[in-house]
Amino acid sequence: MEYKIGLIRGDGIGPEIVNEAKKVLDAVCAKYGHAFCYRDMLLGGASIDANGVPLTEETIREAKACDAVLMGSIGGDANTSPWYKLEPSKRPEAGLLGIRKALNLFANVRPAYLYEELKEACPLRDEVIGRGFDMVIMRELTGGLYFGERKTYEENGLRTAVDTLVYNENEIRRIARRAFDIARKRRKKVTSVDKANVLDSSRLWRAVVEEVAEEYPDVALEHMLVDNCAMQLVKDPGQFDVILTENMFGDILSDEASMVTGSIGMLSSASLNETSFGLYEPSHGSAPDIAGQNIANPLATILSAAMLLRYSLNLDKEADAVEAAVKAVLKEGYRTGDIMSEGCRKVSTTEMGSLVASKI
Ligand code: IPM
Ligand code: MG
Repeated sequence: MEYKIGLIRGDGIGPEIVNEAKKVLDAVCAKYGHAFCYRDMLLGGASIDANGVPLTEETIREAKACDAVLMGSIGGDANTSPWYKLEPSKRPEAGLLGIRKALNLFANVRPAYLYEELKEACPLRDEVIGRGFDMVIMRELTGGLYFGERKTYEENGLRTAVDTLVYNENEIRRIARRAFDIARKRRKKVTSVDKANVLDSSRLWRAVVEEVAEEYPDVALEHMLVDNCAMQLVKDPGQFDVILTENMFGDILSDEASMVTGSIGMLSSASLNETSFGLYEPSHGSAPDIAGQNIANPLATILSAAMLLRYSLNLDKEADAVEAAVKAVLKEGYRTGDIMSEGCRKVSTTEMGSLVASKI
């Protein structure tokens, strides 16, 4: 089959890691007889440099014409990059929020699991890790504090700022259904995370999630307050299957969960809308400090490409092949610097990409 895949190479290490993921996708094409037609598009800092703005109508239009988009990371060093001298709505991150909203990518799927081969990288003690953990964070991505009304103003001579956390029941219902759908294919447990002891938006969240749960009698639902969840993630990560939560809580908890795995360079993510379209990106940032040195870990982007094959192109066999190739390379002891441990062989970004591609 022929597919149209958008590539947003992005900033920092973005171009390097996307190149390696493309290498692996090309190997998938060759092996399984598909044709991927790639289309480069700009977002974030690269778009600011070329067009003066972090997101253009052209990028939105081109992304809409693709079956899926694979992205590196965007953004630079906030202390040194000229992009951060611009007003907030013109900075790289605004481009990312803009494309999420423009493409209605409300469901952000962020898996966090412990690779058997990388157990040593996990900062938790063995007795806490137990038999390992494997969770998916389902983060709402186009609502809440990120998109509510905000302003900064002066009142009685005092600088004052306000951000608004707003959700309607439809927004909650559609993300909840996604969480239950995924849980159904996994260990059949949803932990819905909120702050219902304080926030109205969380009380509505809880009520709507309970309504949705009635459609899924085979899936267990529990509610957890977000502060407790932050604690439970380091106390007993194995208890979680699917964590369902709103935008801001999901931003924070997904970073925490990825740190708990000890190998953020391995974690992929997907941002999905109501269609099969998705935007796929590694969970880590653009790491400008190591950009251009051929030392970044491309595996999270390669695994994001696997998610793209699975969710947007419905190519399960091909996705399995990519994931198995990554596992095989790790098993043989190849590591980039970030996941290096004793007795393993250190390889560069490009070597890692070629190794995975060779195993497809
Ligand atoms: C993420 C990032 C973004 C977010 C930033 C870059 C705006 O932290 O994807 O988690 O907060 O959503
Ligand atoms: Mg984040």
